[in-house]
Amino acid sequence: MNKGRLIVALDFPSVDQALAMADRLDPARCRVKVGKELFSRGGPEVIGALRAHGFEIFLDLKFHDIPNTVAAACRAAADLGVWMINVHALGGRKMMAAARGALADYQNVPLLIAVTVLTSLDTEDLAEVGISSTPEQMVMRLARLAYEAGMDGVVCSARELAPLRAALPADFLTVTPGIRPQGAAVADQKRVMSPGDAIQAGASYLVVGRPVTAAKQPLQALAAIEAEIGSVVA
Ligand code: C5P
Repeated sequence: MNKGRLIVALDFPSVDQALAMADRLDPARCRVKVGKELFSRGGPEVIGALRAHGFEIFLDLKFHDIPNTVAAACRAAADLGVWMINVHALGGRKMMAAARGALADYQNVPLLIAVTVLTSLDTEDLAEVGISSTPEQMVMRLARLAYEAGMDGVVCSARELAPLRAALPADFLTVTPGIRPQGAAVADQKRVMSPGDAIQAGASYLVVGRPVTAAKQPLQALAAIEAEIGSVVA
């Protein structure tokens, strides 16, 4: 079963729509991602409702603040019983270490993932905020820092998978959005990769939104992705 690989992004403007989609998915076959929009609407209740449906949850809130504040936010997120949380690596080593330390005595510790450079930022955008490296250089730098600070992995685009895999240990997780099965609409994603290619390039988890959630039959769309993954995973 490929539940281990697929995270469906529940990018919906209302709790009702998100839960209706959850009803059409299968917690034995995927996990779900709750981002800033849905969490701002539905709060801890939507997390509780999705857990009651049997789903493991990636709470994608990308914390970025002073170490003490991020540590407390990570504890609050862990108290919700989510499976994965994330922080911005740009918050620095001390912030990431505080996040790691905050989760030390939890029994079910959520996976703690770092965001490196937002894929919406290009070289010019970085220069404008005083960073003279390219996005690629920054991704590698921040991924190494995240690893050293004890993060379990990073969110990264498919095209960053190969260099990250070459530079960091195999058990450092990579969570990869921008996944488009053969023939799926690309929509606003600029750099996409198919599920099979992303897994072969070393993705630990695939974040898939609209190819599943906008499909007439979400479970059928999920099955097609599972089949594609199955064809490349021994
Ligand atoms: O619908 P789609 O498959 O494009 O959804 C991808 C999900 O992954 C969305 O929730 C989006 O916010 C998220 N994401 C992304 N690119 C990043 C980071 C997160 O698409 N670099």
